[in-house]
Amino acid sequence: TRVLVLNGPNLGRLGVREPEIYGHATLADLEKAAGKWGSELDLAVEVRQTDDEATLLTWLHEAVDTRAHVVLNPAAFTHYSYGMRDAAAQVTGSGLTLVEVHLSNPATRESFRHLSVVAGVATGSIAGFGFESYRLALEAVASRTR
Ligand code: DQA
Repeated sequence: TRVLVLNGPNLGRLGVREPEIYGHATLADLEKAAGKWGSELDLAVEVRQTDDEATLLTWLHEAVDTRAHVVLNPAAFTHYSYGMRDAAAQVTGSGLTLVEVHLSNPATRESFRHLSVVAGVATGSIAGFGFESYRLALEAVASRTR
């Protein structure tokens, strides 16, 4: 079972970006951890990050075309990108699992973060557990595909 772990803008800056919110671990650390969790769960996990909306949409289209499940941290796109929402809808609409994840819990933060335009087309959402959010998301994918 293949899973694309897709990360949106500024998540390449993990470790240096607002560590009091996002922690000191880097995207490379996340890649390592996700690979390990994937092998424990019998999932082929591929972690990617982009600051570019078009690239993220292309990856979501790729997930549909290659039948890969998706763990998606849309970062700031969460709150306003209808184009990404429409691409995410194609993933779940084609019967694949898409888990929205966040490191922080946006519901406890600024009000502009309270709206997720993706949540309504995701299979489900996990937020607030740091890197553990990704592990829980991979477990969700694994349990739905078992
Ligand atoms: C985030 C939360 C978003 O509001 C923010 O724009 C991010 C990261 C998170 O993982 O907590 O970039 O998605």
